[in-house]
Amino acid sequence: MKKRLIIAIDGYSSCGKSTFAKMIAKELNYIFIDSGAMYRAVTLYCIRRDFISDKGVNTRGILDELPGINIDFIYNPDINAHETFMNSENVETEIRSLEVTSRVSRISQIPEVRSRLVEMQREIGAFKGIVMDGRDIGTVVFPSADLKIFMTASADIRAKRRFDEMKAKGMEVDYEEIKRGIIARDIADENRDISPLRRAEDAIVLDNSRMTVEAQMSWVKDIIDKKINAG
Ligand code: DC
Repeated sequence: MKKRLIIAIDGYSSCGKSTFAKMIAKELNYIFIDSGAMYRAVTLYCIRRDFISDKGVNTRGILDELPGINIDFIYNPDINAHETFMNSENVETEIRSLEVTSRVSRISQIPEVRSRLVEMQREIGAFKGIVMDGRDIGTVVFPSADLKIFMTASADIRAKRRFDEMKAKGMEVDYEEIKRGIIARDIADENRDISPLRRAEDAIVLDNSRMTVEAQMSWVKDIIDKKINAG
């Protein structure tokens, strides 16, 4: 039987990590886990319970209810993809809202939230044959992953991609506002005290500013083949 890998994909927001990770998982018939979706689901829960708002964060309330927040990824054959469920409710669309996006950095700074989600991520990874994307997958969640990729692209290019994506969905968007949001999230991700965004020493850097998705796939397929054949 072929060796099954744990592949960790970390990097800046809006670099196309999920798209890339999903394609790799499809190609290899592996499980894909979007760890950002888990932080987003917890954030959505906190917004609904009024634990986070412009007034501040109710950390006590969050910690009391954290053990009762369950997150699953359930396959939807109609779209041939997994969707995020929080306490049995499909929240895949709602976790991508602007409100969740603007509050998730704050929630992901809470150490207890991180340790609970890391534990869940490791349980899923125990099966091997997994591609997980996030910020701390190669550094904290799976420090001995078989392959670690650190993705980056210029802020302008990331903002442009987000802008085009949101426009295509018919959303009213402002390019400068998107770019400011991306830069603010980079700063928050890199500077939080716990598990900040860092390239693992043994991660391979992929700057996809000027690469098509096809070029990225052909680049990674070579690397994966070598890893699998090395046994
Ligand atoms: O990848 P994303 O934009 O959906 O991630 C949402 C947020 O969650 C982002 O602000 C960083 C945080 N995150 C994290 O802290 N650790 C991860 N492993 C994944 C995401």
